[in-house]
Amino acid sequence: MIFLVCAITALFIAGINGGDPITAPVYIPPSEQQHGNPEKGLDYLIYGDYVKSGLPYGYFKTIFGRDTLNYLGRAGKSALLPHDYNLVKTANGTEVVAPNCLQCHAQVFEGKLVVGMGNTALDFSRTQQAGKVLMAASAGIMKIVSPAQYQAAAEMIRSIRKVFPYMQTEVQGVNAADRLATLLVAHRNPATLVWSDTALLAVPDEVVPTDVPAWWLLKKKNAMFYNGFGRGDFTKFLMLSNLLTVKDTAEAREVSAHFGDVLAFIQSIQPPKYPNKIDIALAAQGKEVFNVTCRKCHGDYGGESSYPNLLVPENIIQTDSLLFISNYQNPQFIDWFNKSWYATTDHPAKLQPSNGYVAPPLDGVWATAPYLHNGSVPTLAALLNSKERPTYWQRDFKHPIYDYSAIGWQYETKQAPSGKKVYNTTLAGYGNYGHTFGDVLTEQARKALIEYLKTL
Ligand code: HEC
Ligand code: HEC
Repeated sequence: MIFLVCAITALFIAGINGGDPITAPVYIPPSEQQHGNPEKGLDYLIYGDYVKSGLPYGYFKTIFGRDTLNYLGRAGKSALLPHDYNLVKTANGTEVVAPNCLQCHAQVFEGKLVVGMGNTALDFSRTQQAGKVLMAASAGIMKIVSPAQYQAAAEMIRSIRKVFPYMQTEVQGVNAADRLATLLVAHRNPATLVWSDTALLAVPDEVVPTDVPAWWLLKKKNAMFYNGFGRGDFTKFLMLSNLLTVKDTAEAREVSAHFGDVLAFIQSIQPPKYPNKIDIALAAQGKEVFNVTCRKCHGDYGGESSYPNLLVPENIIQTDSLLFISNYQNPQFIDWFNKSWYATTDHPAKLQPSNGYVAPPLDGVWATAPYLHNGSVPTLAALLNSKERPTYWQRDFKHPIYDYSAIGWQYETKQAPSGKKVYNTTLAGYGNYGHTFGDVLTEQARKALIEYLKTL
């Protein structure tokens, strides 16, 4: 019976996408990438105008107050903004505050901002509606009091109105960026990128949750995203935040010119080093376990490092399939992208979905909890022993504590689902099953393996 269901699913997927589903790990070949200047890339990330519309500076300050932390050590007025917003001058000379990549790609960890670490504390479970109301209210006032400022905010307000109500996740801590991209794409002409108030593509109901991958892993990868479906020139994917407010392809071209530098910056980021003492002898035993059990998918570390770039199919990895199925079963989005400006101009990118997930590099893995593409497993100890994975678990988002023995966020196991703060692994897309490669190991071998993983 199970076989029959699998066979039908496989046929269904193959039929829709026109590709053959894979049943063994597949090597992903590299594609040519642009080069750039990492310092310029960081500068553009934290000062640049890749999102060219936002809340006028005065309104932002009134609503959100000033931020005195200045984690990024920025100069000028930017110093008073939270690290995840940029100060941008729009075409009509108005200064607006626009979200930057660090909304999702930076996190305060043990009191320090780590740029490139996925933000695991964002709350997509409830704030979206409030954001929409807030924007609508301030837009009403702005339109009357200051038409120039309203004009500078117009694209952002429009996008927020059309997408925010549809991107709610079931729990806090998971990310809805894939959903955001889907909704923005649905409102844009692929060739001209011009906005349409009515959606041009059918948008599925589900909001697929993901955990934000660490930026320091990208330098080893031949394909982007968990599903490995981001192929060709990476800069075209890196610039997708521009879809929030882009006016036309002339603007896209101008923004795109900076993303060789952004890619160079992302590739220059090193993983954070494990801060505590490591038992060297135990880690050496762990390396042997790793070489036998894990290396063929995750690669070699240390002196002669290598990374195999493997896409591992569903029948082997067996983790929650909703993400790759959603990439695979909605050909309207794949078609949109593959005939869009991003895929048909210089340095083209393309989307090539498949029925599996990339085995990621494990550099700095001690710091990237929770684990798996949907962040469903709170610690490495639980990842390596599936019987220990909690069905319902809760982290303290206000005062998070890192557990340096199980390696991950300290959590409390719950007996039943309860609200948005409790991760519920029984929901579609939130499953914590699969990747059971650690189950066969002895307790001692797992302990040694975790000690080794701290060294990566
Ligand atoms: C709203 C949150 C959000 C914002 C803003 C955002 N990202 Fe991401 N990013 C994600 C998520 C989630 C993923 C993983 C998606 C997946 O694989 O399905 C991702 C994936 C990536 C990856 C791929 C990493 C890999 O290893 O495959 C890179 C690189 C990246 N983003 C760069 C950027 C840059 C540059 C910006 C700003 C211009 C940006 N992102 C803005 C959430 C975000
Ligand atoms: C057959 C290939 C394969 C083998 C063998 C394998 N893995 Fe994985 N691993 C994967 C894939 C694919 C993923 C991504 C799965 C997902 O996110 O759904 C993954 C994810 C992980 C993650 C989560 C990374 C993150 O940041 O979320 C860790 C940690 C990990 N593996 C460690 C190990 C260890 C340790 C072993 C050996 C006991 C091992 N893996 C064996 C393929 C493999």
